[in-house]
Amino acid sequence: MKVLLATQKPFAAKAVSGIREILEAAGHELVLFEKYAEQSELVAAVADAEALIIRSDKVTAEVIAAATKLKIVVRAGAGYDNVDLEAATKAGVVVMNTPGQNSNAVAELAIAMMIFMCRNQFTPATGTEIEGRTIGIQAFGNVGRLVGAKAKALGMNVKAIDPFLTAEQIAAGGAEPVTDLKELYAGCDFVSVHIPATPQTIGSIGYELITSMPKGAVLVNTARKEVIDEAGLEKALEERPDLKYVTDVMPDNYAVLQEKFGLRVFATPKKMGAQTAEANVNAGLAAARQIAAFFATGERKFQVNK
Ligand code: 3PG
Repeated sequence: MKVLLATQKPFAAKAVSGIREILEAAGHELVLFEKYAEQSELVAAVADAEALIIRSDKVTAEVIAAATKLKIVVRAGAGYDNVDLEAATKAGVVVMNTPGQNSNAVAELAIAMMIFMCRNQFTPATGTEIEGRTIGIQAFGNVGRLVGAKAKALGMNVKAIDPFLTAEQIAAGGAEPVTDLKELYAGCDFVSVHIPATPQTIGSIGYELITSMPKGAVLVNTARKEVIDEAGLEKALEERPDLKYVTDVMPDNYAVLQEKFGLRVFATPKKMGAQTAEANVNAGLAAARQIAAFFATGERKFQVNK
C-alpha cells in the first residue's frame, strides 16, 4: 500500500526513519510530503494514497474526495478536529488518532509557559513563584493528568474538572475534583486548558470565566485557539490589568493583544507543544504501527469515526 506522510510541520528525521522502517517491514511504501505551502498541494498529493499519516494537516472533504484510493487516515497526535470525519465516514475511510503519544511534550510546555509568564517572559522585572499556588486543569485526560502530576511535584495545589470523569476518578488521578467550571476559574491562580475543539467547546472560554479568575491569574492554553472567545479575552484583559494569557495556539487577534497588553500575553509563533524528538517518535511510530496492523488484521482500536 502507498502511505503518504503529509506533514506541513515535519517530524524529526529519527521519527521519519522509524515510520519508514515499520511500514516497509510490513510491505508498504512510504512517500514523504513535507513542508507544503498550499492546501491545494495536499489535495493533489493524496491522489493515489491508500493511507495517510498527518499532524495538524487539514483533511477536508476536498482532500477526501481527491483521495479516491484512501482507506485510512491516522492523525499522529491527539486532536482530530482537522479531519472532516463526516466526509471520511461517507467515503468509507477509517480515521484514527494516537492518543497519549505526545502528551508529555505538551504537558511540559504548559508548565514552562506558566513559569515564563510568572517571570514576565524572562525579563528582569520582579516575578512570582508557582510553589504553593493553585492550578486548575480543564479536562483531565492524557495531557491534563500529566500537567497535574508535574504541578504537584513543583509544590502546587491541583484542582481539575472533566465532564467525562467522576469525582473519584479525578481524585484517583491526584487532583481535587471540581464540578462547576466557574468555580474552577474563580478558585485557581492558573487554569491550564486541555479540552478539544468541538461544537460544544468552541468559544466557550470568554469574558465571564476569565474575569472570574483571582488577582494575578494566568490562563494557559495549549489546546486549540477556537475554544477561546477572543473578543471576550480581549475585554477581560482590558478590564483586569492583573491577568495574563499564554498560549501555544496563536489567537487571530494576537497583534492587537500584543499591542494592548505587552508582556501580559504571549503566543508561540507556531504550535510547538508536541514538537519534541520524543513526541515525534512516539506519535509517528504509533501511527505507522496502527496502519500496518489495520492492513494486516483490520485492527481499529483507535478509530474515531465509528
Ligand atoms: C495534538 O492534537 O496532538 C497536538 O495539538 C499536536 O499537534 P501537531 O502534531 O500539529 O504538533
